[in-house]
Amino acid sequence: MLQNKIQQYTEEINRLAPSSSVEVEEFRLKYLVAKGLVKSLFEEFKTVSSEEKKTLGKVLNEFKQLAESKYAEWQTVFSDNSGVGLQREEGDLTLPGEGVELGSRHPISLVRKEVVAIFRKLGFVVSEGPEIEDDWHNFSALNFPPEHPARDMQDTFFVEKREGNDMALRTHTSSVQVRMMEMGKPPFRAVMPGRVYRNEAISARAHCFFHQIEGLYVDENVSFADLKQTLFYFVQELYGEGTKVRFRPSYFPFTEPSAEMDISCSICKGKGCNLCKQSGWVEILGCGMVDPNVLENCGIDSEKYSGFAFGMGIERITNLKYEIKDLRLFSENDVRFLSQFETELV
Ligand code: DAH
Repeated sequence: MLQNKIQQYTEEINRLAPSSSVEVEEFRLKYLVAKGLVKSLFEEFKTVSSEEKKTLGKVLNEFKQLAESKYAEWQTVFSDNSGVGLQREEGDLTLPGEGVELGSRHPISLVRKEVVAIFRKLGFVVSEGPEIEDDWHNFSALNFPPEHPARDMQDTFFVEKREGNDMALRTHTSSVQVRMMEMGKPPFRAVMPGRVYRNEAISARAHCFFHQIEGLYVDENVSFADLKQTLFYFVQELYGEGTKVRFRPSYFPFTEPSAEMDISCSICKGKGCNLCKQSGWVEILGCGMVDPNVLENCGIDSEKYSGFAFGMGIERITNLKYEIKDLRLFSENDVRFLSQFETELV
């Protein structure tokens, strides 16, 4: 009797091919637990005659080993994370799905989008250019004299020396102005966002890469009054009605006259604070009338056309909006910083 049972269960085990960890567990519960089949056969073994014990002892032990080794084998197949088991396992379709966590937009992207949206309302289109740029587009066409310090190894990351036209990482987005004017015909009305690179030691206030938005407007009869009104409108939209602006004379090789524009400090509203160094004003961009030499370098008749240009650092605009004091935060990808902008997801 016992012999028959052992044989019957042996055949059953040999036929088994579990297809999930659930079935493997069912096997264990049936055969291997304290009240399982293997144990009960051993109990029955105690009752057989000593004559039978001689042969059955060996058979029973072999059966026990078979059950244990099969269980061990199936367990490794279905419990590891190698995917071997998963291929055969269908999974529990009734389990709730895994939640997808929404990320957040980077503050630089948020501000870039906002600035671009404001200029779009004035009819500006968006244009982009390469980050690896030649000397002509980054410097020469923009009226930089050959000995200008910005071309210096200290400021520019050179990529490749080329006869009279070195390749470098662009140091400003003004290079895109040149590309745009070379390729098309006036009128031009565009903003040009992008990443720029300068060979600076990284600190809270400087970084070797950052972002700018360039603006260009070229047509017949464009005047400095147009420049002022455009930038005034921009500032009211971005920082709110009543934000004051002032223009200070400045110098850029590619504009004449040139100016820097300050706004009344958005943090203290002009009363004086750390950010504006108690002056009530903060500088936000450089601008000016496109130098006739630049127009001519790009094949545009400077007798017929005039234009204005401006360039601003997105990090700077962002700092004024969110009071971020350390530039390094923008590129460290620390979620504790980035997740603070979650509500701004648009
Ligand atoms: N390219 C300048 C810079 O990187 C910014 C700038 C100033 C751009 C005046 C302009 C401009 O278009 O007119 O500092």
